[in-house]
Amino acid sequence: MDKMVIQSGHQLNGQVKVSGAKNSALKLMFASLLADGKHTFHNVPELADVESARNLLASLGCNSEFQKNTLVINSKTNSQKADYDLVRKMRASILCLGPLLSKTGDAVVSLPGGCAIGTRPIDLHLEGMKAMGAEIELKEGYVHAHAKKLKGCSFLFEKVTVGGTENMMMAATLAEGTTILENAAKEPEISDLANYLIKMGAKISGHGTSVIKIEGVNQLKPAEHTVCPDRIEAGTLLIAGAITGGEVTATHIDSSYLEAFIAKLREAGFTVDTEKNSITVRKLKSWKAVDITTAPHPLFPTDLQAQFMALMTLAHGTSVISETVFENRFMHVTELMRLGADITPKTHVAVVRGIPDKGLTGAPVMATDLRASASLVLAGLVAKGETTVNRIYHLDRGYEKMEDKLSSLGAKIGRV
Ligand code: UD1
Repeated sequence: MDKMVIQSGHQLNGQVKVSGAKNSALKLMFASLLADGKHTFHNVPELADVESARNLLASLGCNSEFQKNTLVINSKTNSQKADYDLVRKMRASILCLGPLLSKTGDAVVSLPGGCAIGTRPIDLHLEGMKAMGAEIELKEGYVHAHAKKLKGCSFLFEKVTVGGTENMMMAATLAEGTTILENAAKEPEISDLANYLIKMGAKISGHGTSVIKIEGVNQLKPAEHTVCPDRIEAGTLLIAGAITGGEVTATHIDSSYLEAFIAKLREAGFTVDTEKNSITVRKLKSWKAVDITTAPHPLFPTDLQAQFMALMTLAHGTSVISETVFENRFMHVTELMRLGADITPKTHVAVVRGIPDKGLTGAPVMATDLRASASLVLAGLVAKGETTVNRIYHLDRGYEKMEDKLSSLGAKIGRV
């Protein structure tokens, strides 16, 4: 199993290109189930999760070719069953439910099961499909969904859900009549998916707001699209600059994707400059503790909570970090404590007392999920001596060439 070994004491400086967003690419890939033919996506990151999605699509009859970040999917659905072995590798696989059901009238998708960052149920996905007229049955670990033709409906999400919004939006494109989704998620990846569906011939408006309207059409056609930038990767790279006291510019990123995050960096004392397609965090030797509360977009993203906590371990003062999106997303806390961080975790809140004078000390630590791994790598950049991050496969699920990117900025980081 690969480990990441990081030697501290190197300031990170320079420019780094942000990759395409994993959380958009995966959904775009599943959207290809809605129309037979050749779908072309550019700026697709090379990630383990993309490979998992390719394998799942291949099992449904949609083969693909992937070269130099361009993915061509030849969609020709000939199976409606998403097998347990493929779904368990990646929770986002549940996103094939809406497209399969809408296009073919049937879908049998394995329940994704638990996950390191909480129970993460799919009840809202299923309620949404039922509201569109689908018959849903849970049998032997699988969701069996059937609908001769889905019907448009008004659906109010009881809780904001990114995946639920995307599944419903895709299902509604081929439904009969109009669907209105209220309390929909507003993440940039939702707009990216809506824009691709519109290129395919779907009639969608309101994406990027909490009310999305989809007028069903009879048929969609394949199209071509460039995946939007990965705001979480951009935020992680900017923290890598900030925590090492360096100056890093993340390029190919729209700063409007990260307003809440940038505001918190500024509140901590950092100068952050934004251009049309880049964000620069300027050098700063010491920074202040700030409180953060994660929430759906446009508020502070839960996917940057762990990385921001790493930054706060070395701030002047005490920071209160509240996690409101997932119930169990502090697994990085005990690992950061192994590096000497002073943190008191409670159920949904972690109190981080910064130790800028004492600093962190390198140690072997273990990655528990994707974003937790990133926070440990960031802490490793500044923890005196050597830090070894075990189970780094979590990082490979969601960060494209992370160690190459950090090395290009001056980090001493390697894989064993
Ligand atoms: C997506 C992102 C993930 C990010 C999360 C929140 C992908 C592949 N993953 O995950 O990186 O952390 O959004 O920004 O895009 N919930 C329910 N019932 C449901 C669905 C969700 O209770 O049917 C709950 C979840 O348990 C969680 C909250 O709603 O507490 C938000 O989850 P959701 O937005 O659905 O996250 P994902 O789409 O799984």
